[in-house]
Amino acid sequence: MKRTDDIPAEELVRSARSARERSHSPYSKFRVGAALLARDGTIITGCNVEISSFSLTCCAERTALFTAVSRGIKDFVAVAVVSDAEETPPCGACRQALADFNPNLEIILGRQDGTFTRTTLGSLYPKPFLPTSFPHGNIPQ
Ligand code: THU
Repeated sequence: MKRTDDIPAEELVRSARSARERSHSPYSKFRVGAALLARDGTIITGCNVEISSFSLTCCAERTALFTAVSRGIKDFVAVAVVSDAEETPPCGACRQALADFNPNLEIILGRQDGTFTRTTLGSLYPKPFLPTSFPHGNIPQ
């Protein structure tokens, strides 16, 4: 899957909405779901998980990312994010984490009614630190 036209945006938003239902957010009550699309078409979802020691909380995007990587999936083309807000652009930490895997990731900002707007990680986070930024050129496999 190479062309952005091939991205099943509606399906990704639906997947993110379902993942949002599983959000564990007793403190903020702000439920977020994310759905990552791998290049082979696999969709991996995640929700935000809040911990009583608040800074340990993990955003939906990184839950999805770490779930995917733990399943051996590392090549991503898009992510959809849905919350209770009109739009939820990934936070700075998630932008960095996603950029490590694809700095040009397509980002789909979805809403509860299934509508969405599209942007790119390249425009939201234009100059990331990357695995290739290490002076010794160490690129994790
Ligand atoms: N959150 C996400 O899951 N993704 C975002 O892009 C923004 C914030 C979560 C973290 C926390 O559980 C709650 O939303 C409030 O910040």
